[in-house]
Amino acid sequence: MSETMSTAPAGGAPAAEPEDDAILQVRNLKMYFPVKSTGIIRRTIGHVQAVDGVSFRVPAGGSLGLVGESGCGKSTTGRMVTRLYEPTGGSIMFDGQDITKINARGLKPLRREIQMIFQDPYTSLNPRHTVGSIVGAPLRIHGVLPKDKVLGRVQELLEIVGLNPEHYNRYPHEFSGGQRQRIGIARALTLQPKLLVADEPVSALDVSIQAQVINLLRDLQKEFNIAFLFIAHDLAVVRHFCPEVAVMYLGKIVEVGDRETLYNHPNHPYTQALLSAVPDVSQATIGGRRERIRLEGDVPSPINPPSGCRFRTRCPIAKDICAAVEPPLLQIGPRHKVACHFPGEIGAHPTEPVTQRLLGVDAHGQPDPGASPVEIPSGPGYSDTWFDLRSNALGRS
Ligand SMILES: Nc1ncnc2c1ncn2[C@@H]1O[C@H](COP(=O)(O)OP(=O)(O)OP(=O)(O)O)[C@@H](O)[C@H]1O
Ligand code: SF4
Ligand SMILES: [Mg+2]
Repeated sequence: MSETMSTAPAGGAPAAEPEDDAILQVRNLKMYFPVKSTGIIRRTIGHVQAVDGVSFRVPAGGSLGLVGESGCGKSTTGRMVTRLYEPTGGSIMFDGQDITKINARGLKPLRREIQMIFQDPYTSLNPRHTVGSIVGAPLRIHGVLPKDKVLGRVQELLEIVGLNPEHYNRYPHEFSGGQRQRIGIARALTLQPKLLVADEPVSALDVSIQAQVINLLRDLQKEFNIAFLFIAHDLAVVRHFCPEVAVMYLGKIVEVGDRETLYNHPNHPYTQALLSAVPDVSQATIGGRRERIRLEGDVPSPINPPSGCRFRTRCPIAKDICAAVEPPLLQIGPRHKVACHFPGEIGAHPTEPVTQRLLGVDAHGQPDPGASPVEIPSGPGYSDTWFDLRSNALGRS
């Protein structure tokens, strides 16, 4: 019989953290885009595995940061959560309801509760509509206010995001980039959502304006108790906003943890490389390394990702097992999970794969007939038991 990573008595259900404060729980979410042949008969000849089995949770009124290089699947994940895309697989629970396969009728009320802020404040606003019309559109579409009350509410929203309420009659091109992003935020707030998916909301803005917009989002979050899935391509942006951060690489989450752990004790070689490029992270906290860790090679194609660990073609410490077996997203601390056969801080990665016994394989990743594999939880959130790297055993710290 396989052992499970659980504190429950033998035969009992795994002891997971109470999940009732989660507004969003995503489990094993997948998005495969078909690749078609050219020619008259367009056949499906492959799939872009844009997102391949991600699980995470966002607490009500809290925030999760989702970080990774261009093309790793962040926007696709955000678009599935807002149900702009229907996932290929997995499930999305929002506020206690399974919204994975919700039909068009069910989507309308959902659109009120989950809103999205887009990266580019230039293209996400219709240049031919006034700001009043843009911000008021959701109120009209959903018919939540009588017509004569819409203008008052629009002006209130403009004021909330720090814009002059008298400017409702102006057009987007009459505003600066930061102001346009504020208009996008006002539009997203119009229906008082419970969850905002912010897809790189400050990437297109000057650094000085970025801090203002992030502060605004923080104030709004506190005031209206909005939960955030905050997408960014570098770890610096989400650092002050998100108490919990997940790092993605080629469609998968490779490390997730609370802020203190992830920034000060990253265990995945990819997170370590990303952090070495963040100027405001004290280098002492990432193993005393002074120089930037430069990753060799390009990100492989998600149409034909590498076998085993998808990061192995660029990983400085990859070994045989990395090509043979995919590392599970293993919980290694109270609020810390990492998908690596050799997790450890810089300079302290183990020489033997820590996953060997758990997966029932030998050091090269070949099946070990004498071993008993362990059932490793793959859902969102954390268990109250984890794999302790110091003792190489399951247990509490
Ligand atoms: N509609 C689509 N059809 C086919 N492939 C797609 C589609 N949308 C995205 N992809 C592919 O899926 C992968 C993930 O794309 P996605 O836009 O989610 O990445 P991202 O992490 O948001 O990147 P960026 O930081 O550049 O915004 C990429 O390889 C992309 O080319
Ligand atoms: S599993 Fe192997 S290739 Fe992947 S990050 Fe860990 S050491 Fe590198
Ligand atoms: Mg994107």
